[in-house]
Amino acid sequence: MIRYSKVIGTGGYLPEEVRTNEQISQTVDTSDSWIFERTGIKSRRIARADETASSMAEIAARQAIEAAACAPEDIDLIIVATGTPDRVYPSTGCLLQQRLGIKNCVAFDVQAACSGSIFALSIADQYIKSGAAKKVLVVGSEICSRIVDWTDRGTCILFGDGAGAVLLCASDEAGILSTHIHSDGEYEDLLYCPNPQAATDAGKDEAGYINMRGNEVFKVAVNTLGRIVDETLAANNMQQSDIDWLVPHQANTRIIAATAKKLKMSMDHVILTLENQGNTSSASVLLALNEGVRDGRIQRGQVVLLEAFGAGFTWGSALIKY
Ligand code: UT7
Repeated sequence: MIRYSKVIGTGGYLPEEVRTNEQISQTVDTSDSWIFERTGIKSRRIARADETASSMAEIAARQAIEAAACAPEDIDLIIVATGTPDRVYPSTGCLLQQRLGIKNCVAFDVQAACSGSIFALSIADQYIKSGAAKKVLVVGSEICSRIVDWTDRGTCILFGDGAGAVLLCASDEAGILSTHIHSDGEYEDLLYCPNPQAATDAGKDEAGYINMRGNEVFKVAVNTLGRIVDETLAANNMQQSDIDWLVPHQANTRIIAATAKKLKMSMDHVILTLENQGNTSSASVLLALNEGVRDGRIQRGQVVLLEAFGAGFTWGSALIKY
């Protein structure tokens, strides 16, 4: 019998503070209309000074656990995707484990930038399919606002804070149908965030902020996400019309629209959250999944395509029968 990873609960958390395009245009040379037309973003959420990736992850995770009606101690693996961990170590996964009070489970982080939650889902699925784990908590949590240079109009307009979570359980009913993940380290210079403390002398003066050549990233992202759609459909012998929902990484509406076009899908079948959340990096796909599930658009039995693209470059997809 095939063993699947079934989604049994989702959760999400967004900090209270809203930062609008108008507010940003008071400090850098930009405008609400430029940002909205080029990205689809109107506002993003900014974490409080006392919040961290692990504190936000805890709220999203507790929601997913509650939705699944599962006891935290039944979880045997926690995977957190983050590029903004509370500490270099312990991992945010271990900090989340402590916050949830789970004694006997394995916890670790995955660093794949904006593709982190897809990488984490892929790893979780391998653990479940192999029988090594039965219940896996996957969380993407990011405080992007702390690694954004608020004087750089090319990046500060894009990013936001938040956390998304999903609880997976071993099942004989269809769940995750396939995952596809890829990396190409050749593109380091197009999108990176330095770590001045661990850098060589030459890099120590660089500030620890996101650096991005946006337009070049944009072009690679559109092409690459088109290819991942083909790869995912082919692996499952499916056609575009078999997909009920696209749950994309929320980086730019124009990138998302290109992927929807590739799927011959109307935007009504795309879960879009970036207008009021911006790009929450590894949290974005799970936040969007949570939104689609909780507002009733995504129904049991429907086929959902999750995809993401990020620094590395990294990219990937997960096809789920919800
Ligand atoms: O999640 C990880 C992956 N990241 C992404 O997928 C992000 C991908 N990139 C993008 O979303 C877009 O490239 C951006 C939204 C970042 C930029 O949009 P674009 O259409 O690629 O603009 P551009 O960089 O080609 O710049 C066009 C013009 C330039 O001016 P000139 O040279 O034509 O005079 C920029 O200086 O727009 C200018 N510009 C701005 N103007 C007003 C760049 N940023 C801004 C801004 N406000 N915030």
